[in-house]
Order: sequence, then C-alpha cells, then structure tokens
Amino acid sequence: MSLQQSDSSISLSAARERVLVLDFGSQYAQLIARRVREQNVYCEIVRHSLSLSRIIEMAPKGLILSGGPASVYADGAPKCDPAIFTCGIPILGICYGMQLLCDALGGHVGQAHSREYGRASCEILQHNSLFADIPQQTEVWMSHGDQVDRVSEDFITLARTDTCPLAAVGHRTLPLYGMQFHPEVTHTQRGGQILANFLRKACGCSGDWKLEDFAAGEIERLRTSIGSARVICGLSGGVDSAVVAALLSRAIGTQLSCILVDNGLLRTNEAEAVIVEFTNHFKTDLHVVKAESEFLDALRGVTEPQEKRKRIGKAFVDCFTAESAKINGARFLAQGTLYPDVIESGAAPDGPASTIKLHHNVGGLPKDLKFELIEPLRDLFKDEVRRLGLQLGLPEKIVWRHPFPGPGLAVRCLGEITRPRLERLRHADKIVLDEIENAGLTRQVSQAFAVLLPVKSVGVMGDERTYDDVLAVRAVETEDFMTADWCHLPYDVLAKISNRVINEVRGINRVVYDISSKPPATIEWE
Ligand code: XMP
Repeated sequence: MSLQQSDSSISLSAARERVLVLDFGSQYAQLIARRVREQNVYCEIVRHSLSLSRIIEMAPKGLILSGGPASVYADGAPKCDPAIFTCGIPILGICYGMQLLCDALGGHVGQAHSREYGRASCEILQHNSLFADIPQQTEVWMSHGDQVDRVSEDFITLARTDTCPLAAVGHRTLPLYGMQFHPEVTHTQRGGQILANFLRKACGCSGDWKLEDFAAGEIERLRTSIGSARVICGLSGGVDSAVVAALLSRAIGTQLSCILVDNGLLRTNEAEAVIVEFTNHFKTDLHVVKAESEFLDALRGVTEPQEKRKRIGKAFVDCFTAESAKINGARFLAQGTLYPDVIESGAAPDGPASTIKLHHNVGGLPKDLKFELIEPLRDLFKDEVRRLGLQLGLPEKIVWRHPFPGPGLAVRCLGEITRPRLERLRHADKIVLDEIENAGLTRQVSQAFAVLLPVKSVGVMGDERTYDDVLAVRAVETEDFMTADWCHLPYDVLAKISNRVINEVRGINRVVYDISSKPPATIEWE
C-alpha cells in the first residue's frame, strides 16, 4: 500500500480550489498545470475522456481543455464528455481544446490557409474578463494546422490575428472561452495575465493555494500517518530526496533513517558533500553504505546500456535490503516521486492514460522491499520542489543542484566501466562543472556533464603522437527534462573546458560538444 496514494490525494485537494486540465495529448499539458499553480490555484491533469459525473465529484472551479496533435474532424479524434459544455463549469479551450468546444457548439473547424507556428501579433477586440488589462496589440504564440473558421451565433470574437480571424472567442451566455494561441508558453507576452483572468474572473478562484500551506499540511499529515513507526529514506544527493528527507525530519525527527549508497558511480566528492550538507542540516540517523566493489564487480565486462542498468538496479536492491535489515522497526520507505513521474508513468487514478516512460525511482530504490511507500512530493513539479526545499531551509547548493541519474556515471561512461575510466570521467566532469560555475552559468544551465566515449582518436602532444579517449560535453536547457535544447555556451567557456580537460586529464586528447536537442536525442548518452 502506498500511504500517499491511499489518502494524500483526498487530503491535499478536498478543501482547496481546484482546476482540471483535460489532456488531449498536448506536449504543453504539464506547462498549463504549472502556469495555473503559479497563480496559486491547485491544478491537476486528467484524462480528456473523464466523465462529467467524475468531474463534478472532483468539484473543479474551472476546466482547461489542452491542445493536442489530432484534427477534431479526423476519425478517432479524442473527445471529451460533451455534457461538460453546458454544465456551468467555466471552460477555457486552448488550440485543439478551442476547436473541440466550437465544433461541439455549432461552429466549424478547417485547415488553416497556412500552418502557423511561432509568434503572431494579436489584436484584442473585447477587453472583457479574459482580456482585462491586456493591451490592444499583444504578441502571442501560435502552433496549429487547423483553426476554427466559423462559430455559431452564440459566440463573440474576442481577439484576432492577420491569419486567424477567430484567435479567441467567448460564449454569450455560458462561461466558455476558446483561444487558438497558447497562453501557457512564455512567448505569449501576457499569457500569465490571460490565465490569471480566466482563473479569477471567469472561475472565481481566490488563489489561496500556497506552498507554505502545503508544507505545513504535509508535515502534519506525515506525522499523523506515520505515528511512532520508523521511516527509511534513500538519499541520492539530488534535490528530490533531500526535500523528502527535510519534510520527514520536520515531521518525525529521529524516527527517520537515511541511506546513501556510495556505489563508486558518483561524481567527485559527491558522497562527502551529501554527508556534510546532510549532517549540517538534519539530526537523523545516516547510513552510508560503501559499495564500490560490489557495483564495479557487477558491471565488469558489460557494455550494453540496458544490461548495465539492470545490474546496477540489482546491486542497489542488494545493498539497500542488507542495510535496511539493520534498521529496527522500519515500516515505511520514503521516495522523491514527483508529479510528472506519476503522470508520465500512467499511475495517477484519473490522469492521462498514455504511459510515456516508467519513472525512475530516486537513487534507483528497489520496488520490492517490504515497506509501505511514502511519496510526499507526488503532487508537485520540480520547480515547486525546489521552492519547498528553500522554504524548509535547505541550502541553495542542494536546491539548485543539477539532476543526476540514479545509475550515476555508468550511463555516462560508454563502453566498459573500469575504475581508471571512471576516474578519468570524474576528473573531466568536475572541470566541466567548475568552469560552468566559474562563468556564473550553473543556474542558467539545466543540466551539464561529461561523457567518456568508447572511441580513441589520434592527437599530438608535445612532439609525440597520442592515441587517447574522446570526451563529449553536454549542457542542456529545459523546463521539464522531457524536451531540451543544447545550451549555447559561450565559446570562451567551451575553450577553457577543452583546454583544461586535455591538459589536466591523462588519457583524453579530444573534446567535442554535443549540439543535439531532445528529441530526437536524449539528455543522457547511455
Ligand atoms: P533522458 O536521458 O531520458 O533524461 O533524456 C531525462 C532526465 O532524466 C535523468 N535520468 C535519470 N534519472 N534515474 C534517474 O534518477 C535514471 O535512470 C535516469 N535516466 C535519466 C537525466 O539525467 C535527465 O535529467
């Protein structure tokens, strides 16, 4: 049983104003939810096909119909329960959501003359509730092939662009709105204000959802649910597990035991830094399991990435099981699962059905341990977890750490994993991170690291021919790690990294910079 699944969703949301995003397969559904939460209104993503009766049970103050890749007139296009349009709950349809709304209420959707992606200048025609305080001309972000080309008499036009005469519409008598552009993306200049107008003026939300309240409520809830039992928390050095530990430490103090597996696949000084930061901030029982040999033995001779992951997973289970057996009275296991993990793994009861990926447990914690799960962050996005961490008094150093994958350097040491190759990679990785930090870019870059390739190339050092390893440098910018762009790091930073790596790290004579976005590449190389 998961403690979080059994009662959190009820306690978290019962007394609170809530808005639901009906997901029609949009890449922006999570972004919409985050933008709504930024307005201090709690928001959840649900399946587009959720029945009206279930929606009414959830008592939302408003619904947002997301965009999506389909055409409303195509066979099998995703639809919502049509009864929602007349039930009186305020609705904002965005892009596909607008097309669905207008199509269902007597309008017509067709292919736009030209597909429109990118910025457009939008003229506001009605400064009613949705566009209150928005200037007459404002820049918006379009991304569509279809558009509404006719609405029924019941609608009025609220905004237009040169190529999209019905850029935003509103119903005359029902609280229904549609917009062809995307208010959730930052390129829509006044997108935040437009969403705020919908939430406050159309839905009547007061915006009383605050992370401060979340922390206080969650600490109280954990205290009551855990009672006098002992809780184990795996620490990975990342922000998620640190915030879980901080919450638990506040809730149950010395009943918490943390386990850090030092598996030989961590970055330079990582285990030491976690131990120092952790013991400075918490008075809890910290178990550091030294397991480098076990992990390297398990990985000997393995080059295939999936096989590496499997062996690392098993080594984690073995270490964790052995260590947790030494902790008497442990009944709960705490994990730093986040809302995107829950949504993307298809684990949310009313969430979108599609499984995008299986979520990685923080630190590769085993699933088959005989504990009840505690997942206090499963309603939160990464940026909310970071804010929560700061509120709980965690140092910026921990809160703003770049994510580091559970399988550690193993997914960045391509080919065979040996101690000397790991050392080479660790040294080079430290140079990459130090130079990015020295340039003051750590916060701008979402994640940066070095990858040791299983390729040698010829070079010349002094007067001697070398035949050494190639190092790839990866730095990405991303909001959610689902999509990412490579960072345009300044040339002088790249030059410094390359110079230092080739001069200081023995065995590397060439540095290359990864200029691939995700998709089609991924962030890690594996
Ligand atoms: P990819 O490579 O899938 O990575 O684009 C997306 C984000 O997830 C991190 N990542 C992991 N994190 N366990 C983790 O805890 C894993 O097995 C794992 N694999 C990838 C990656 O570092 C990036 O932030």
